[in-house]
Amino acid sequence: MNPKKTRLRSLLGLPIALASFCVAAQTTPAEPPPGRLLASNCFQCHGYNGKSSIGFERLVGESASEIYNELREMRTKVPPKMMDMHARGYTDAQLRLIADYLSKQR
Ligand code: HEC
Repeated sequence: MNPKKTRLRSLLGLPIALASFCVAAQTTPAEPPPGRLLASNCFQCHGYNGKSSIGFERLVGESASEIYNELREMRTKVPPKMMDMHARGYTDAQLRLIADYLSKQR
């Protein structure tokens, strides 16, 4: 076979291999459970999945409505303390997602 043609063919193979790699890499990973990303913002103080071991209140074991209602109350406290300020950063829908996620942790 003509060596020039062989070289050309192997050069063509590279972009095809790259293109198929890119298509494979673009497949979306499984969605995380709803609320998890938002709740991860709480882990720095309340511990991973609300299981604090450093003295902050543990959120694990509380029901979704307990967590949701506490957070709603905190949004209106005057003057606001640290947690009250934090609660003010979320919409009702986001607080529900966070509360639902945390209430399902064991
Ligand atoms: C910067 C640290 C910090 C972060 C981040 C934080 N909290 Fe808190 N949280 C506190 C502190 C401190 C308290 C104790 C009450 C207070 O000081 O107002 C508290 C209290 C609470 C309480 C009431 C106590 C209890 O046991 O039920 C709830 C519910 C709560 N936090 C939920 C959350 C949620 C949900 C998030 C994430 C959206 C979050 N916290 C993020 C520091 C934090």
